[in-house]
Amino acid sequence: MKVGAIVPAAGRGERLGGRDKVLAPLGGRPALAWVLDALVRSEVVEAIVVVASEANRTAIESLCRSLPTTVPVAVTRGGAERALSVRAGAETLGAATKFVLVHDAARPLVTPELIRRAVDAVQRHGAVVAAVPVVDTIKQVALDGRVVTTPDRRSLVAVQTPQVFRFDWLWEAYRRAGASLVTATDEAMLLERAGFPVYVFPGDPENLKITTPLDLAVAEFLLARRRSA
Ligand code: CTP
Ligand code: MG
Repeated sequence: MKVGAIVPAAGRGERLGGRDKVLAPLGGRPALAWVLDALVRSEVVEAIVVVASEANRTAIESLCRSLPTTVPVAVTRGGAERALSVRAGAETLGAATKFVLVHDAARPLVTPELIRRAVDAVQRHGAVVAAVPVVDTIKQVALDGRVVTTPDRRSLVAVQTPQVFRFDWLWEAYRRAGASLVTATDEAMLLERAGFPVYVFPGDPENLKITTPLDLAVAEFLLARRRSA
């Protein structure tokens, strides 16, 4: 298989007050349904693995069964940290997969175009992440609040998912990470640590991650605007 997708959906939504943001209704359907829809409509993904938690697994399984799609969708159990959840998804996809595309269930505004762009970019580089310019000035700050340094904004980007990797590189990155796996906040970080070259490609400023209640409100607005476009 050429491209398999992993959709981590096993988080606890703590910054959203413990609500299950992956299943909460957004523009009339769960965030996860929007994500699966975009993956299927991209027509470049051959299999999907959704990584669920103990708490949302049954609901996610029935959502996946209700999807009208020819792409096979499997559901697997995640771990306590995001990196463990994605690794469980990679195990389910299996090493016959050439490229692994990871996309957060919490980013419902992803489009089929962005997914196609990601798959296009990985053929050139082997490891790619969607990125957008940072609009704020970013400062590194010490624990006591004192500013340590202000990096040049032109050298900074904010990364999103999709992130796509050669399966063999991702697997090797897992092997080299050992116990430090759990500290990775995205998969690219593991490949970087293992010495693989990771490249950015243009993401989409609308492809926001639902983290706080403010993000839910913005996502509702953006989905409504798309429907009326
Ligand atoms: N995720 C996961 N397994 C985990 C933690 C996170 O599959 N152990 C998933 C989430 O479901 C989400 C994505 O990774 O789709 C991005 O994580 P984040 O936005 O941090 O979601 P949560 O971990 O659920 O939120 P919080 O950190 O506020 O608890
Ligand atoms: Mg989290």
